[in-house]
Amino acid sequence: MTPGLFISFEGIDGAGKSTHIAGLAEAFKGQGRTVTLTREPGGTPLAEKLRAMVLGDAMDPLTESLLVFAARRDHLLTVIEPALARGDVVLCDRFTDATFAYQGGGRGFDLQTLATLERWVQATPAMRGESIRQPDLTVWFDLPAETAAARLADARAPDRFEAQPVAFFRAVAAGYAARAEAEPRRFARINADQPRERVWAAIAAEFVQRGWLPAPAASGPSAT
Ligand code: TYD
Repeated sequence: MTPGLFISFEGIDGAGKSTHIAGLAEAFKGQGRTVTLTREPGGTPLAEKLRAMVLGDAMDPLTESLLVFAARRDHLLTVIEPALARGDVVLCDRFTDATFAYQGGGRGFDLQTLATLERWVQATPAMRGESIRQPDLTVWFDLPAETAAARLADARAPDRFEAQPVAFFRAVAAGYAARAEAEPRRFARINADQPRERVWAAIAAEFVQRGWLPAPAASGPSAT
């Protein structure tokens, strides 16, 4: 059986992940793969309730961190692990790097505590105590906080994170950069400060290079 593939997508709000995630889902389906498209916080009925709280209600950074990790545990056990066991391609809009970037970088919450929670939550039964579940690849949409803020300015009503000042997103971006530096093999840094077709070409090249998609995938989501 084809082994499952777990891919997460990260970046500050306004980085433009959504269309590319949809494009990759189509590209993998075109290869005959079954795709599980999901997101964090969320992806299960319980985790979606927790998402609504995290995005809507005021709370301290530890509460926020516990809720996103609680949502993650439910999501891992009931959606991600079963999908990987079936051999699906799991495309997950944000995962634990977002916690290190937003709660750690943005809110300034203790990284050691986050690392402890990461070890607890991602030690799923499927990992048999050997290691913790991590994405096979994390596509990081990197762009300046100022550019992302300008893109968000015309967007719908902002949630608790989108309403933050540019300085918060600079700290979030620094949080992502630190995670990418610590695990360079897991991360693919994509320059998201360029036209959508160029961003897609950069992403497609990463997948082709890993042998996960054939070269014509570079024709992109806008070609359909
Ligand atoms: P996002 O994924 O950007 O969804 P949408 O496109 O619907 O706005 O929103 C999720 C927000 O949650 C985003 O601002 C980042 C934040 N977040 C955290 O603070 N910690 C986390 O661990 C995760 C997964 C997300």
